[in-house]
Amino acid sequence: MEAYLRLLSMELDNVGYIDYLFLGDYVDRGQHSLETITLLLALKVEYPNNVHLIRGNHEAADINALFGFRIECIERMGERDGIWTWHRINRLFNWLPLAALIEKKIICMHGGIGRSINHVEQIESLQRPITMEAGSIVLMDLLWSDPTENDSVEGLRPNARGPGLVTFGPDRVMEFCNNNDLQLIVRAHECVMDGFERFAQGHLITLFSATNYCGTANNAGAILVLGRDLVVVPKLIHPIPPAISSPETSPERHMEDTWMQELNANRPPTPTRGRPQVANDRGSLAWM
Ligand SMILES: *[C@@H]1O[C@H](CO)[C@@H](O)[C@H](O)[C@H]1NC(C)=O
Repeated sequence: MEAYLRLLSMELDNVGYIDYLFLGDYVDRGQHSLETITLLLALKVEYPNNVHLIRGNHEAADINALFGFRIECIERMGERDGIWTWHRINRLFNWLPLAALIEKKIICMHGGIGRSINHVEQIESLQRPITMEAGSIVLMDLLWSDPTENDSVEGLRPNARGPGLVTFGPDRVMEFCNNNDLQLIVRAHECVMDGFERFAQGHLITLFSATNYCGTANNAGAILVLGRDLVVVPKLIHPIPPAISSPETSPERHMEDTWMQELNANRPPTPTRGRPQVANDRGSLAWM
């Protein structure tokens, strides 16, 4: 939420001119899921041709029933309205696009290509609305898979997130890009310390816009700006240091902290990749 607001305050003047693509996980990732999804939907209504929302693995009722969104709806809107809202928004999630293709050269999805996705047409041919229970392996791979640990781990490996999930190596990325005449895969799904991280010699970028993930990861967030000729420019969003002036002891503050801690305890682990980079390195990574 914080990241979105900072992004919007930086860039809102441009919404009518620039396309904005968000890569999913609009809920379950903080104490303001309702504001986040409502704001994004409002922007979609106001700028339908410039705002694009694709689906993350948390845009699924069985997941966000467990990891925060359902409870947030009930606690903030009451049992009846909360459940109604939760159902209604999840019905919408089943319609969200599953990937985005930019200039036929850059493909974006939440998770990755997993084991099953070899051609863009496989994604296009998925019929929506679709639920995870439909059992599509393509959908599972799109929303849940990750790249392997690093460029020297090739092929397909089991994914520590859970049974039936895979990680895919740089060889899969190169093959997919070649088969589909693509330059780049952009995906999210994992916290990376600098907000973005390259894989497969730069043919896959992991992008994570939430700063200080779960209040503890202390990661930077990032957005990618695509310039002319699809030049990719990462923009980093640094975590906001804790507010010194805020009264730590106010009852409201205490409640928010407790609520956040409970949510964080229930959240499925998203492993943090890589290490914090020394500040000097950031500038040299700015253009790719
Ligand atoms: C890549 O990951 C493998 C598997 O965890 C590890 O053994 C290897 O040391 C890593 N290589 C690099 C360059 O980090």
